[in-house]
Amino acid sequence: MTINPMSLSGKNIIVTGASSGIGLATSHLICTLGGNVAMVSRNKEKLSVAQREMPEESSKAFSFDLRNTDKIPDLVSLILAEVGPIGGLVHCAGDFAVRPLRSFDPKEYRDLYDLHVTAFFMLSKAVCTKKNVDPTGASIVAVSSVTAISGLEGSSTYSSVKGALISAVRSLAAEYATKKIRFNCVCPGWVNTPMLDRIKALYPDLESFDLAITKRHLLGLGQPEDVSNSICFLLSDAARWITGTSIVLDGGYSL
Ligand SMILES: NC(=O)c1ccc[n+]([C@@H]2O[C@H](COP(=O)([O-])OP(=O)(O)OC[C@H]3O[C@@H](n4cnc5c(N)ncnc54)[C@H](OP(=O)(O)O)[C@@H]3O)[C@@H](O)[C@H]2O)c1
Repeated sequence: MTINPMSLSGKNIIVTGASSGIGLATSHLICTLGGNVAMVSRNKEKLSVAQREMPEESSKAFSFDLRNTDKIPDLVSLILAEVGPIGGLVHCAGDFAVRPLRSFDPKEYRDLYDLHVTAFFMLSKAVCTKKNVDPTGASIVAVSSVTAISGLEGSSTYSSVKGALISAVRSLAAEYATKKIRFNCVCPGWVNTPMLDRIKALYPDLESFDLAITKRHLLGLGQPEDVSNSICFLLSDAARWITGTSIVLDGGYSL
């Protein structure tokens, strides 16, 4: 019998931001590797279109606005009742924000922080209980960004919430190692998804976007699969000795 260390067979994994881009590619790969996926995102219609592409027996959809952070324990209870104990969590839901310092807005920043960071803590808190977590252990992956480690004009609010995830997984990894729960981040460069299309539209023309962003990626812009491959590696037993770290996947952007 051949053993596949990347297999996710028997694991129930929550993916937020599962209706689009990196989260959708991750949901697909989880199913291909034998896992079950609980797909979470905000827009119900978009989510059900995305779920229709997935194998019915190994995917379930949960429409939820993750800025409602107080209600996240209820969401996780619902997921648990439908899929069983949780062996993995990928917090991928998010959106980019362009905000120069002169127009910093505290309310907008709190919303951004809630979606990227508070939701991550609340999801992790709900998963990491004896009642909810898979007794064999779990792997939790937060999707950060290369902007957390490499500056970009106008992106200080976005990069700071992504930086908070990198710091959070280090301490959470230390807190939960003895409970067989691993915490890690991935830090992607720019990836071809609907989010990147929205960012492109902020530049005056394609040439200035290429100069500021595309050309900095020595291996070209990423595809969602370039990120989902590493996320699924971290979810799997192939990464059983990896915790508290952040993997940079950026085609050379941050060199
Ligand atoms: N694309 C890149 O270049 C890039 C680079 C580095 C990091 N990232 C990070 O990767 C993650 C995924 O980005 P992507 O490029 O795949 O973006 P995307 O294609 O726009 O997908 C974003 C996902 O997040 C969900 N979402 C947004 N706000 C939500 C909310 N309040 N509650 C629940 N779900 C919500 C969206 O669902 P709805 O449409 O239903 O709202 C969608 O499923 C993000 O955290 C992003 O910051 C992206």
